[in-house]
Amino acid sequence: MKNVVVPDTLLDTLRKYQQEHLLEFRDRLDEAACQNLLRSLDQIDFPEVARLIESALKRSSSKETPTTTGAISPLRQVVRLPETEVQRKALQQAKRQGQEILDAGKVGAILVAGGQGSRLGFPHPKGMYPIGPVTDRSLFQIFFEQLVSLSNRHNVAIPYFIMTSDATHEETEQFLREHNWFGYPEKDVLLFRQGKLPAIDAHTGKILLAGPGEICMSPDGHGGLLQALKKSGLLDQMRQRGIEYLFYHQVDNPSVRLCDPAMLGFHAQHESELSTKVVAKRSPEERVGIVAEVDGVQQIIEYSDLDPELAAQRDEQGRLLYWAGNIAVHIFNRTLLEKLTLDQEGLPVHIAHKKVDCIDRNGEPVTPDEPNAFKFERFIFDAIPQAKNPLVLEVDRAAEFNPVKNRTGDDSPETARAALTSQAKSWLEKAGWEVNPEAIVEISPLVALDAEDLAELDLQIRPDQKEILLIPEQGDS
Ligand code: UD1
Repeated sequence: MKNVVVPDTLLDTLRKYQQEHLLEFRDRLDEAACQNLLRSLDQIDFPEVARLIESALKRSSSKETPTTTGAISPLRQVVRLPETEVQRKALQQAKRQGQEILDAGKVGAILVAGGQGSRLGFPHPKGMYPIGPVTDRSLFQIFFEQLVSLSNRHNVAIPYFIMTSDATHEETEQFLREHNWFGYPEKDVLLFRQGKLPAIDAHTGKILLAGPGEICMSPDGHGGLLQALKKSGLLDQMRQRGIEYLFYHQVDNPSVRLCDPAMLGFHAQHESELSTKVVAKRSPEERVGIVAEVDGVQQIIEYSDLDPELAAQRDEQGRLLYWAGNIAVHIFNRTLLEKLTLDQEGLPVHIAHKKVDCIDRNGEPVTPDEPNAFKFERFIFDAIPQAKNPLVLEVDRAAEFNPVKNRTGDDSPETARAALTSQAKSWLEKAGWEVNPEAIVEISPLVALDAEDLAELDLQIRPDQKEILLIPEQGDS
């Protein structure tokens, strides 16, 4: 450490924010480790962290969050699933309008893939998870093949902005490269890393050290998207490429309809800046956020923040009052993303009281039995209250929301594969084919994006077939 000079400005900052302990063990570090520590310190926005620490220490419990401090009431405005002929016509009209928006090359897609998927127990980026019911088609492959199909069909580039984190970046890039970006032009795949925030000691407000030269940092939540897009210059690129609408989705849902034309059409018709798809919650306990109103303003309340008594309330017909489950599919206007990045404070911060391994004042490792730290995250859906005309669309769960979250039981690989098979079967049946009820079916998005696409194809399917795999024939583009 002797050869490494700590800049005075850094020393002053640490003193000012009472975080000098971060250099306490510097004599134990070799030169490289010390340089590394200085680089990490340089990346911390101390004034911002000081604000976060202050609000964390003020809050007595992690339950109190920015979205639960007001009066909560059920959602009032939503485009429900079509039931009448008029509503079905409106859906078709929205679809046509969305197709025109796609034709005009105004659409990009955003995937947030910075999470580590610890609930699933898969030690890789979740997008690599093999989920095809017949093949080992990964989540990433399903998304990319949809984009290949759409961009060919509309004869436009649809830039795909993929947010990773330190934990997922390298492996994601290597995987996509090894698979040649699943046939998508490399220039249209834009990987960028989300930011990080430090964890703090829940009693003292001091930033925690993971080791003598290592700060406890964790990803700043998918709300980190805004700053990460700005810092990487990708917001500018969106503008330069003429992108006006960004279709946003998560990495865990193989049934997502990327750049859904009907959603784009409704979004444009309502002159909305931010649209959200919801499904009816399956039970009060389901771990999905809900769209509701807080002090009369539309918001998403995360499942961990919703009072269980409120979650269980029902109307006279026995339906859940807080029924609108967030499936984390949104459309953002590019101009809204730009506007949100101008706000100094950024999106509200959610504070979680967690167990974090660290070292103590003597440099000894600590593995806590009880939560000892506060961690900070921003959620992108907290942008809704700042959006003009936010729109909520109800969609069919079986067709559009079959996430892979848990190892077993609900929302597991088994339920997602079963849902993909049953969706593919229903498309084939709609197209006039008799399908073996026991059959396992997989349809590549390169072959069809919906039942209508299948109707136009010349297929060979036997009613006794136990396994049906529709993929492009060799030589097809
Ligand atoms: C999320 C939503 C929940 C919604 C549900 C639908 C949040 C806070 N909650 O819950 O309202 O009903 O999905 O499936 O999002 N991610 C990052 N960086 C991060 C953290 C997460 O990119 O720092 C990404 C993950 O890779 C994933 C997505 O965000 O694609 C959601 O993260 P996850 O923590 O799995 O959310 P859920 O708890 O399932």
